[in-house]
Amino acid sequence: MKLNHWIRQQCLPTCHARLLRQTTALLLSALLALSAGAGAADKLAPKQAAVAAAHPMAIQAGMDIMQRGGNAFDAAVAVSAALAVVEPYSSGMGGGGFFLLHRASDGFEVMIDAREKAPLAANRDMYLDADGKPQAQLALEGAKAAAIPGLPAGLAWLAQRYGRLPLREALQPAIRLAQKGFEIDERFLAMATMKLPLLRKSPEIESIFLDSGQMPKPRYRLSQPELAQTLSTLGDEGHKGFYGGHVALRLVKSVRDYGGIWQMDDLAQYHVAERAPVRFEFDGLRITTVNLPSSGGATLAQAFNILAQLPWREADAAQRSHFVVEALRRAYHDRARYLGDSDFVSVPLAELISTDYAAQRARTIKEDRATPSADLSTALAQLNQGDHTTHFSVVDTQGNRVAGTLSINGPWGAGIVAGTSGVLLNNEMDDFSMSPGVPNLYGLVGSEANAIAPGKRPLSSMSPTFVEDERGVLILGTPGGSRIISMVLLAILDHAVNADPNPERSVSAARYHHQYLPDRIEIEPEGFDAAWVDTLKSKGHEVHTVERKWGNMQAIFVDRRSGEARAANDPRGMSAWRQPGRQ
Ligand code: DON
Repeated sequence: MKLNHWIRQQCLPTCHARLLRQTTALLLSALLALSAGAGAADKLAPKQAAVAAAHPMAIQAGMDIMQRGGNAFDAAVAVSAALAVVEPYSSGMGGGGFFLLHRASDGFEVMIDAREKAPLAANRDMYLDADGKPQAQLALEGAKAAAIPGLPAGLAWLAQRYGRLPLREALQPAIRLAQKGFEIDERFLAMATMKLPLLRKSPEIESIFLDSGQMPKPRYRLSQPELAQTLSTLGDEGHKGFYGGHVALRLVKSVRDYGGIWQMDDLAQYHVAERAPVRFEFDGLRITTVNLPSSGGATLAQAFNILAQLPWREADAAQRSHFVVEALRRAYHDRARYLGDSDFVSVPLAELISTDYAAQRARTIKEDRATPSADLSTALAQLNQGDHTTHFSVVDTQGNRVAGTLSINGPWGAGIVAGTSGVLLNNEMDDFSMSPGVPNLYGLVGSEANAIAPGKRPLSSMSPTFVEDERGVLILGTPGGSRIISMVLLAILDHAVNADPNPERSVSAARYHHQYLPDRIEIEPEGFDAAWVDTLKSKGHEVHTVERKWGNMQAIFVDRRSGEARAANDPRGMSAWRQPGRQ
């Protein structure tokens, strides 16, 4: 099996069996303990709670908190904070993200926007030198790359507004993991190896994540007492425990010592925003997803609306992929032209996601021919991918649910741990367009709508999403930079075309991607036959096989008929190794 092959490559033989045993025991006990008392009021209240996340210790943190009486929102706090400790290269207290919430008691749904903000002293030319030449590295590494973190505010907000437990309690599993330490795994080592020079850039980061300056050995126990202290202060004091007082002072001093531009006011003024989700329908599915400053909702809605105009259902696999690619090409084109933080720029969102507009866009699609991206209009954007950032999905027995995608952007963010806070800072400033035509980490060149401004949020692709129909609800999302949106689209398509919902299948299916520019279809190295590739080439598409598979999707399907909640981890990621029953 492919999965087996992949596990053998990534995991030492003994660790595989041991981890499977541990996790089987853990999940079984968690499921049994949480099975009782499913609420009868909401038809979508599952028989058991479930968590899908990129690391088994984060899954355990979420399940523990629900066992202690917390709801899915408390579990989201616990999972997010645990991920900050055990996946420090992906997300953390120095980063931000989006949470999509469904409250079972009244069906209320909201997006919590905990995205980072540009510092107040930021300006649109801050990464240009005296001659106006872009200094791309400044937006990627070091103190100037760091935007004002949103995750701590997001966790405090979630616990206070939606949770049942005090924030302090929901943070306990993460505090323990940071204090007592945990055994690092192969993925940690791979991410550390990839960015070793960055981990040696400052004494703070080196002393935390390396072992006396050297790459730690497998099973090295990593503890982060300073991060534990910062988490405790957040737990005890809530929002102001991070954005004021000694933690804020420490963060600002350290950023400024490293040449950054943060001020106390940046932290004092940071707030999360509650935003209405983007909603649309496709093929009988009701899809609820993120609003700006994520581009995910607008781009997904537009791509699906275009697809709905085309005979995709009766098409064979290659012809269907051609339609998907042409829909993605147009939706990503508009992402580049129009999307940015709607608190700062006016975005024609309603028009972009209208069926009338989709019909206009669909009329330019030829059944037998690729449309060159250059023909769409002035080329503005190029996007690319990555596999740092993290997604989790949670449901409790009441039917409350959360889809959360969190990030510090690039692996290990800006490569700076702020002073003695234990907080690794993001490099999310790179998600802005620093200058017309200048690509960012993901190859992105944006438009005016995504230019830097003080207090503005950089445009994101993170797309936590709910998909509902009479069969049940699918809760999903993934990391992957610009490819996040096409991954979520392909998983939803899989869910649409197969009468039998199967989240494992949806998160595992082979992936392809088109993002307007570069003008080519990118495909994973396995899963596509020669005839599929040839048909697409014969229509004029360039098909480019990427070296490595991408994404780390975490999904839960709640089956309306059986009441089962089924969690699925992307076989490309870490948690899949620990799924009971997987060999
Ligand atoms: O917000 C965004 O779109 C990016 N900062 C996400 C980065 C990402 O997903 C990286 N890798 N997987």
